[in-house]
This record gives sequence, structure tokens and C-alpha cells, in this order.
Amino acid sequence: MQLKLRRILVTGGAGYIGSHAALALLEAGCDVVVLDNLCNSSKESLARVAHLGGRALNFVLGDVRDSDLLRSIFADKEIDAVLHFAGLKSVGESVGNPLAYYDNNVSGTLKLCEAMSDAGVRKLVFSSSATVYGDPHEMPVSEATPTGSLTNPYGRSKLIVEQFLQDLAISDDRWSIAALRYFNPVGAHSSGLIGEDPGGIPNNLLPYISQVAVGKLDFLSVFGGDYSTRDGTGVRDYIHVLDLVHGHLCALDALQNRAGFNIWNLGTGRGYSVLEIISAFERASGRSIPYKIVPRRQGDIKECWADTAKALAELKWVAVRGLDEMMIDAWRWQSLNPNGYHKAPSRTDSVK
Ligand code: NAD
Ligand code: WQD
Repeated sequence: MQLKLRRILVTGGAGYIGSHAALALLEAGCDVVVLDNLCNSSKESLARVAHLGGRALNFVLGDVRDSDLLRSIFADKEIDAVLHFAGLKSVGESVGNPLAYYDNNVSGTLKLCEAMSDAGVRKLVFSSSATVYGDPHEMPVSEATPTGSLTNPYGRSKLIVEQFLQDLAISDDRWSIAALRYFNPVGAHSSGLIGEDPGGIPNNLLPYISQVAVGKLDFLSVFGGDYSTRDGTGVRDYIHVLDLVHGHLCALDALQNRAGFNIWNLGTGRGYSVLEIISAFERASGRSIPYKIVPRRQGDIKECWADTAKALAELKWVAVRGLDEMMIDAWRWQSLNPNGYHKAPSRTDSVK
């Protein structure tokens, strides 16, 4: 896909989704500036992005809450649009440390928007989450489904940002903003060179299963076997990270000719249970995943999958990768990089 918007600032571009987006932008012929404070990532991911993209990208080490730094980036780099991934994303951590989440996710986005406004850059794609739907009563979940009563600061931080972005777009019709509500991103680039590298014990299902498969963890705890789903375990809409980032390029493309505040779900429209994910991963990896059913995790919902019609109609975007590809790519990344980006041969020379 070729984009007319050429120079893109990617905040959080060293992270899991941001690194895949940075690569997709390089491949689309864009100049990429990554701003990341590396609080949950490593520069090695960007070295590998540059290697895969066959081209250097520009890396700025710094914080999205640093207004002076943002001002200098917008002054120097002639940015056309921003993909804003930077933020904290652990639901459990947000309950214990809400101020860190509101500061990073809410204040960070406010500072970014102020600097964008001052620089006259008004095209923004924001990483939102299906978590804003709370515990929806009906499936699938469309963009018109009411946002739910949220039980954790992480989810509230995403909803607050969506709300002030909407206010911003109403206040000034030169803004073109997309809030993309991700369902459950999984998988990795097919090279196995970039992927998800969670610090410590993973919270999310796929990184946890991957670490069981590679022998770093003994077994998976399946949180709840008594939901009213087809096998009693929770059902989610897992989406390949490459499909997800393609949705961002489609959103950027749409924002060229579309003002205002727009919400699009990025999911596949299909739900899989935890036990189905375990089986699919076993098929993909050839390893068995020992598991134990344990009580439900507090705050979890029974099921969630996307209505994808709006993104199809308005972005001409649809997820094309199936469950097996997600699992094969997740396993390739994990098996080639059992310690994530650590202790790996460095290619940092290609990052300026
Ligand atoms: P990630 O932690 O891998 O990436 C986030 C990146 O942002 C990291 O590289 C981190 O170092 C950087 N960062 C954090 N705070 C920063 C700051 N103040 N200044 C500069 N850089 C900062 O997470 P991810 O999975 O790639 O998620 C990206 C975005 O998508 C996040 O906003 C997250 O909330 C959102 N999201 C993720 C998921 C998911 O399941 N992964 C689902 C829905 C939404
Ligand atoms: C998926 C399923 C668990 C781990 C979270 C955030 C959401 C979004 C994506 C950022 C559920 C089960 C999990 C384990 C398990 N992130 N599970 N054992 O909870 O759908 O969404 O990540 O925006 O905001 O809430 O994803 O991967 O944690 O769980 O049984 O060790 O796997 O109960 O059914 P979730 P998840």
C-alpha cells in the first residue's frame, strides 16, 4: 500500500504493535520517526525493523509527555501524521498504580495533541481498545455498542482519551482523528525477527502459552472453566498483529480525506475460547501445553468479538490471517527468541 502522507511520527514505535507498524510504514515508502522512552521495549526491535525494511528509520529516545522534545520533533521533521501507540497497557498494574496510568496515557496524549496543534499537524491515529466496551451484553460488539462501566484505570484512561479527542475534533474541524479499538492482538512478523516481548511473567494469554511451550513456565492457568461458552472458557477475538497494523495504514489513508473523530473496531469478527487457542498453539508448535483450570480472573468478561462491518465499509479493511497463521507466527517468534530481544545479536547500527 502506498500512502500520500509521507512522514509519520510513531510514538511507542519500539513496542510490540508500534514496531510492526513502523515496518509496515517503511514498506509503504514512508519516512518514519519513532519516539519511545523504552520503558517497555528495547532499541533492538527498531534495529530489526530497519533491517527488515531495508532502510533506516529515525529514533528519538524520549517521553511523549516532554513538550519541549515534541516541539523540536515537529519543528525538525515535517511530520504529516502521528500514530500514537505510546502508553502503559497492563490492566492489573493500573489498579495498583492508577496515577501512572492517567499520567502516561491521558496526560501523554494531551501533551501530544497540544504539540500537534501548535505545529499544525492534525492527523492522529490513537491506539484504543475493545476494553472500552466493558462487559457488553450482545455479540458482536459494534462501534455503536455503548461503552461500558469500566472496572480498571487502564480502560478508563483509554475512554477518557477517546472522549477528549472527540471534543478536540468538534472544536476544530481541521482535525482528522481515528480511535482504533483493538480486540486481542497476537502473532508476530513472519520473519520471526520482531514480536511481543513482555517483561516478567506475561499477563496475556498468547505470551503466556508461548513461554510454557518454550519451557520457561511450567503450565498455563486457564482462568475459569465455568463460563456459559461452548467449552466453559473465555472467548476473545484474536487478531494477527500484521492485520492490525494494516488497519492503521488504511486509517491513515482514510484520514487524508476525512475530518472529525472516527472510531473503528479492529478485530476479525470471530471468537475463540482459551481451550481452542491452546489446541491451535499445540498444532502450530508441535509442543503440548499443560494447563490447569483455576478460578476466574477478577474483572474478566465471558466473551468479546468484533462487528467488523464499519471498518470494511469505511476503510476497506478486513483481517485476512486465520488462527493457524497467528499461532505459527507467535511460535516462530518465541522459539527463535526465547529471551525476547535480550541476549540477541545486535543490529543497532542500522538505527540512526
Ligand atoms: P508495548 O508496551 O509493547 O508498546 C508501548 C510502547 O510505548 C513501548 O515501547 C514503551 O516503551 C513506549 N512508551 C510507553 N510510555 C511512553 C512514554 N510516556 N513516552 C514514550 N514512549 C512510551 O504495547 P503494545 O502492545 O505495543 O501496545 C501499543 C498500544 O496499543 C498501547 O497504547 C496499548 O494500550 C494499546 N493496546 C494494546 C493492546 C494489546 O493487547 N497489546 C490491546 C489494545 C490496545
Ligand atoms: C484472553 C483470555 C483470559 C491469561 C486484555 C486487556 C485488554 C487488551 C488485551 C489492551 C481471557 C484467558 C489469559 C492466562 C487465561 N489490552 N487467560 N490464562 O483479558 O481479553 O484483554 O488484553 O488494551 O484491555 O484486558 O486478554 O490475553 O489477558 O486474556 O486463561 O494466563 O485468556 O481469562 O479469557 P483480555 P488476555
